[in-house]
Amino acid sequence: MVAFSTLSGLSALSLLFSLVQKVHGVSLEVSTEGGNSSSPLLYGFMFEDINYSNDGGIYGQLLQNNGLQGSSPNLTAWASVGDATISVDAENPLTSAIPHSLRLDVPEGTTGQVGFTNEGYWGIPVDGSTFQSYFWIKGDFSNNVTIRLVGTNSGTEYASTSVEVSSNADEFTYITTSFPTTKAPDGDVLYELTVDGELVAGRSLNFGLLQLFPETYKSRYNGLKPQLANALESIKGSFLRFPGGNNLEGDTEETRWKWNETIGPVEDRPGHQGTWTYYNTDGLGLMEYFYWCEDLNLTPVLGVWAGFALESGGNTPFTGDALQPYIDDTLNELEFILGDSSTTYGSLRATYGHEEPFDVTLVEIGNEDNLGGGCESYAERFTAFYDAIHAAYPDLILIASTDNASCLPSTLPEGAWLDFHDYNTADGLVSEFNLFDNKDRSVPYFIGEYSRWEIEWPSIKNSVAEAVYMIGLERNSDVVKMAAYAPLLQLVNSTQWTPDLIPFTQNPTNMIIETVSYYVQQMFSVNRGDTIKEVTSDSAFGPVYWVASSAGDNYYVKLANYGSETQDVVVSIPGLSSGKLTVLADNDPEASNTDTQTLVTPSEKDVTGEDGSFSFTLPAWSVAVLAAN
Ligand code: AHR
Repeated sequence: MVAFSTLSGLSALSLLFSLVQKVHGVSLEVSTEGGNSSSPLLYGFMFEDINYSNDGGIYGQLLQNNGLQGSSPNLTAWASVGDATISVDAENPLTSAIPHSLRLDVPEGTTGQVGFTNEGYWGIPVDGSTFQSYFWIKGDFSNNVTIRLVGTNSGTEYASTSVEVSSNADEFTYITTSFPTTKAPDGDVLYELTVDGELVAGRSLNFGLLQLFPETYKSRYNGLKPQLANALESIKGSFLRFPGGNNLEGDTEETRWKWNETIGPVEDRPGHQGTWTYYNTDGLGLMEYFYWCEDLNLTPVLGVWAGFALESGGNTPFTGDALQPYIDDTLNELEFILGDSSTTYGSLRATYGHEEPFDVTLVEIGNEDNLGGGCESYAERFTAFYDAIHAAYPDLILIASTDNASCLPSTLPEGAWLDFHDYNTADGLVSEFNLFDNKDRSVPYFIGEYSRWEIEWPSIKNSVAEAVYMIGLERNSDVVKMAAYAPLLQLVNSTQWTPDLIPFTQNPTNMIIETVSYYVQQMFSVNRGDTIKEVTSDSAFGPVYWVASSAGDNYYVKLANYGSETQDVVVSIPGLSSGKLTVLADNDPEASNTDTQTLVTPSEKDVTGEDGSFSFTLPAWSVAVLAAN
């Protein structure tokens, strides 16, 4: 009131207008009849080794540089203990795949414990579970080896065990040990292995491929870090696309992800130089990906190398006869996955512990072949792979790595799907709300990667934009079969790409950072119907967006408010009376959850529907799900 007298006529009018405008709201009538079927796979995960998401991340092995691998192996993460020195030894290779070992030289006259430490991947999360350590030792030694987990600065001991060893100088002897741990307050922990120096004085010992595991997810041997697997479990995704992404393609043909070098005993896996700056051990390899899918109930989406690597000026793309060996290699990979144990590669799989074929139905040919010089040859490469795979496995669904028509065959083979990647601005994602409304329904889509990008942490505005985009996808989930936020995981200490869905640290207590986008994915994935229902409204889409679905008697209405005004919402679903409303919101569009703050978390409340009518308020910058029955 007071302010009016000081305003110009025009300003007063516009203030009045804006006050009137504050009465916002939408009324939605959800049909209980008919509807379009929704893809049961719609929400899932895309995974590759980026941001130490695999080694140092979801792969349970905790020691960094444990095989001294790479083109210039060095002592990264290792340090000596006591009066001894350590070095990378090429004279005593563990195997042809792990061509180096860690040499411990102990001077004459040494007394006391000597050995080495490993600092893990920016720390070691000691979570109080029973740990396992495996290593090989070469050199005459018959006594105890002591393994401890100790605070880097505090010196506090979180585990200590002695394992009796009897080794010789002719060959490596394999040692395994399991021991209890006490939970550490943070990730600042070293793995320490020592021996009595007096027993080795004037001599050396060699150690090969040292490994350390916590109790893994579902107690799998060579399995997953439980905290990260649990975070994925809480989203209830439906599929896992692996192993990339750029990391499938490799910077060069030589450094592509080679399936046959990621299987079998870990000491026979050479690893490879990844595309995201660091060496990949491939300890989490092809079979571990399938175990991951089995343990988390995920449908595998297998990416296969399609004759193109990232390096510009390199010798790819391969076409014509040069492509054939890679097609054959893919057929061998598929036989390893799908063949019974009477086949060459199926029997190899059986010897590695999985008698039954794995369950794969979806195979993607390449990655982003529209980019970096891959487009021109992709029609030929896709067709060659498609024809060979389809002839051998006609039931497999084959996915092209782009929807760019200029990179695809003029006639797409029947049944092929298209992968479309969408890294975008917030406004860009919102503007694509109706991207799929008028697509040809006969060609299914996979949104293999999407998110707001080029920011560090997703803020509520960015995550609401993703929700608007996802509402657009879900409304079209007769044709959009699957969609995955990417990238999935990020070790905050060494990051190559932001934002990511689930950043993490090595702190065993607060390992997971639940980003605002994580909550959006979770809210959308856990509240899924099988049928998209028609919704009628007098309001147009924007700033409020919605989609409704049902599964039997359960209804789900997802809403996003991409605006700074509160919205009153009335949802009518005839015959329904009770529901739960989950809301994720913040008035500040920049509010985010990071490694130092948690500002945005969902709230839940029960709501009742008077005569099937649910009334509630949608805050500014919010995502909401009404689950009613
Ligand atoms: O998700 C990060 C990268 O983005 C993927 O490796 C690649 O497919 C895309 O360009």
